[in-house]
Amino acid sequence: MGADPILALEDVVAGYGKLTVLHGTRFAVRRGAITTIIGPNGAGKSTVFKAVFGLLPVERGRVTFDGRETTNLAPRRLLERGVCYVPQGRNIFPELSVRHNLELGGEAAGPGVDIGARMAAMMARFPVLRERADAQASTLSGGQQKLLEIARGLLLDPQLVLIDEPSIGLSPRLVRETFALLAGLRDRGVTILMVEQNAKSALEHSDYGIVLEQGRTRMEGEARAILADPRVARLFLGGGLAADDA
Ligand SMILES: Nc1ncnc2c1ncn2[C@@H]1O[C@H](COP(=O)(O)OP(=O)(O)OP(=O)(O)O)[C@@H](O)[C@H]1O
Ligand SMILES: [Mg+2]
Repeated sequence: MGADPILALEDVVAGYGKLTVLHGTRFAVRRGAITTIIGPNGAGKSTVFKAVFGLLPVERGRVTFDGRETTNLAPRRLLERGVCYVPQGRNIFPELSVRHNLELGGEAAGPGVDIGARMAAMMARFPVLRERADAQASTLSGGQQKLLEIARGLLLDPQLVLIDEPSIGLSPRLVRETFALLAGLRDRGVTILMVEQNAKSALEHSDYGIVLEQGRTRMEGEARAILADPRVARLFLGGGLAADDA
């Protein structure tokens, strides 16, 4: 994985109380690329994001972002360093306007950042947000709401975007548009780490892939190679990866 990964997990152990979910998870994420984590339900994919983003204590192991250890750093500090997290599901304020949702996201920016200018730039980049700026966020379509969430994260000018199941609940067209949006961010130098149920389609739009099963990294490599791997095909069909295959 190159000499300079933007994010690295080394033998991370984390879970919920007595339930250990990540059993020494380790992988590295290449800077400037799209990497997708796939794996069965309950494998610990969302838990990886919560552990990286300081929402869940890392009990053992290390997380390194941009060359510095960030294990158990608070979410606020990670945001300041350039990590943005877009959780699974809907995470906007439905009663508030599109503009107000963006403003709230911008509040996490440090002093000296001209959030007004960044909001204007974001609305120029995503015209639907400008057109609907004064509408209640709940009136946006599912895809537009996801776009609003992503735009809200981008206001902080992140280096790394952690995005959990961006395609869930979207039509095939919106799924394609969302992946194209992520590719556009990658092309501007933003690193994307995503989790996807829609594994085939996500890997087709990714540079690298990681297969997680029962909180352990089973495979890590070029997305094309992971797509072509017969063990992954079995995983897509619902079978697990046997430990002796890994
Ligand atoms: N808040 C929580 N409290 C207790 N257990 C949890 C909590 N969140 C997740 N778990 C458990 O941790 C395990 C891993 O969950 P996680 O959400 O990381 O899986 P996932 O790979 O993201 O699955 P999915 O594909 O369904 O989103 C599961 O057994 C789940 O039941
Ligand atoms: Mg999940």
